Amino acid sequence: MTRHRQRTKALSRRGFLSGTTCNLLASASLAHAEHHSASLTLPFLWGAATSGYQTEGNSTNADIWLLEQVNGTIFKEHSGSADDFYACYRQDIALAASLGLNSFRFSIEWSRIEPEQGTISHEAIAHYQDMLRACHENNLAPCVTYSHFACPRWFAASGGWESPDAADHFLRYCELSSRSFGHLISVASVFNEPNLHKLILHANPLSDRAKTTMLAQAARACHSPTFSYYLSGDPQRVEAAMISAWRRAYDVIRSGPGQYPLGLTLAMTDDQAIGDPAARDHKRAEIYDAWLYACREKGDFIGVQVYTRSLTGPHGTVPPPAGSHSTTMGWEFYPECVEGACRYAASVSQRPVIVTENGVATDNDSERQDYIRRAITSLERAVADGIDIRGYYHWSFLDSFEWAAGYRPLMGLISVDPKTKKRTPKPSAFLLRNLCPKKSMIWQL
Ligand code: BGC
Repeated sequence: MTRHRQRTKALSRRGFLSGTTCNLLASASLAHAEHHSASLTLPFLWGAATSGYQTEGNSTNADIWLLEQVNGTIFKEHSGSADDFYACYRQDIALAASLGLNSFRFSIEWSRIEPEQGTISHEAIAHYQDMLRACHENNLAPCVTYSHFACPRWFAASGGWESPDAADHFLRYCELSSRSFGHLISVASVFNEPNLHKLILHANPLSDRAKTTMLAQAARACHSPTFSYYLSGDPQRVEAAMISAWRRAYDVIRSGPGQYPLGLTLAMTDDQAIGDPAARDHKRAEIYDAWLYACREKGDFIGVQVYTRSLTGPHGTVPPPAGSHSTTMGWEFYPECVEGACRYAASVSQRPVIVTENGVATDNDSERQDYIRRAITSLERAVADGIDIRGYYHWSFLDSFEWAAGYRPLMGLISVDPKTKKRTPKPSAFLLRNLCPKKSMIWQL
């Protein structure tokens, strides 16, 4: 009862940066899992993450919706009604709160806010405002992503991030969203994994070829000479355009309303060197550093999103050791990846870290529980060594649409019946609750 009367507030940016909010938990009594030592502090934002496109369903004005439908698509199946989260958000948010989380990460979908260029949907604005209010009513600090991969179809057809006008289009959306939602946001990131294209190309330099037909078909469907989504274009040029947009977006959003911590999230692996670290260091510099430095220059936190490790020898990537096993995404099961990635991100960016995504694709929930225990234990090692980690979000809250891989990889703490959309929390959801800091959160203004 008391719990429901409490209201979360925006985290104070000054308090966040000076670490005062973090200290509040340093003295908190923690619900320790059997293996936890009493002296360690846990991160203070404790949540689960989602994205709009992957859960809401029927995102018909998004670029990816079209890419799913065209001949030559690389998507295994259609997203369709997804988890029907656009309709079920109030129940889902209440469910997240009942699992003892104190924060909930989701994205605002640009293609819903601005379905056609220059046309604003007031219904969508009211919808996301209500989602934010629902988080506060349930004592969950909303962690908002302004752009989680999917963009409006019209943006892709005008050249996406390859177009010289891209930043101006995006900035207008940021300004409108910040004005409409800022007073209700607790923490936010501008982009989700803007470095993902580079990371994928590093792992598989030929992966772009498969997309050519799909993109040509999408351009044709839009009667446009081009169609460019988040995984297309020259990665170097797109990165430069997005970094410049990030700097401007930071200022636009920072000018208010709301004074919440604003950062970036990056797609990372825990990059471990076998022997001479030079090749590994080169990889890190190439894939992360431009963004880590951009965040260091202007950013309140760096969001680390990590699922596995990657081994690099003097001549390039080395396969996982014999005896290791793969998740259903085909990635090595290696929960400790979170520790190494946080250490690197913190050391280069010199910003506080929030683990904005970490999780595992598996049909076996015992494996997920094992993953969570080991990941948190490794995170605690980093915290004990003084790495400034302010939060942990498990990916994902719900089993959801895993982009090109479709619905098969199950990453959720909660299963969703594809027909009835009935939600069933898995034991891993309760495990996360048990690891959560017990003391109520105190949000500072
Ligand atoms: C993305 C999520 C995705 C997850 C697992 C991250 O790259 O931010 O949208 O579902 O990884 O594949």
